[in-house]
Amino acid sequence: IDRYAVFGNPIGHSKSPQIHAMFAEQTSQPMSYEAVLAPKDGFATAVAEFMANGGRGANVTVPFKEEAFALCDELSDDARVAGAVNTLIKLDDGRLRGDNTDGLGLVGDLLRHDVGLKGRRILLVGAGGAARGALLPLIRAGAQLSLCNRTRAKAETLANLIPGADIQVVNGESIDTAFDVIINSTSASLSGELPALSTHAINSRTVCYDMMYAAAPTPFNLWAKQQGAAACIDGLGMLVGQAAESFYLWRAVRPDSKRVLMTLRQSLL
Ligand code: ATR
Repeated sequence: IDRYAVFGNPIGHSKSPQIHAMFAEQTSQPMSYEAVLAPKDGFATAVAEFMANGGRGANVTVPFKEEAFALCDELSDDARVAGAVNTLIKLDDGRLRGDNTDGLGLVGDLLRHDVGLKGRRILLVGAGGAARGALLPLIRAGAQLSLCNRTRAKAETLANLIPGADIQVVNGESIDTAFDVIINSTSASLSGELPALSTHAINSRTVCYDMMYAAAPTPFNLWAKQQGAAACIDGLGMLVGQAAESFYLWRAVRPDSKRVLMTLRQSLL
């Protein structure tokens, strides 16, 4: 039986074991998936030990995604642009390949909600690791991308990461034209705060997406609804989506994300 795991610190609240257990059952894959609490200074050792003992792949979460990136022998384009790895794959020759499925999980969830991206004006709010991971998948989906961030210089850096991509950096507070889609990647919701954004960014056709999720609507989605947004979506579907993409990389089988998402949504309440 093939072993998989998620490495993080802390790891107790990770939903990945639950999600992958459901995927494995749905698709009858002979595999196990465990949560590993790696010491803050012992990530590489923990991964090496796991891979030497039947590990075939792993997910990586906070605070190890950048360290995982540095550890890999080979990287996908998404991982390279993200500068972070959330999926490790042990190759047949024993080398470690790193991918990052967070952005594809986001794009997949938007498409699942029938939110078109091709040629659409998309505003990505924030310029941390979460935003960076979404860049290449959004560009590949044909988004006409704008970035804004509290610290503008970080948005400028992100906008220059993909050669040839035309990414605008804007000031969130002085936006005067509505976007088709606004994605909040900031951690502001964690402290009950809102990123500073002009109300003109939203009109009745704007779809808002918060990468955060909770049992109740996030502060950003509550605010967006008050501004008359067409729809407000939270990040639970992105969480399931990134897991489904990792599962596919490991097993070459596509699980039924929708059913798993419904189960998780129930368990949040
Ligand atoms: P992550 O990996 O989750 O993206 P991060 O790298 O710490 O976390 O990035 C956090 C992002 O949320 C940053 O874009 C940050 O803005 P700054 O670059 O200006 O720090 C943004 N952020 C956090 N709290 C915020 C707040 N209260 N208002 C606006 N932006 C906030």
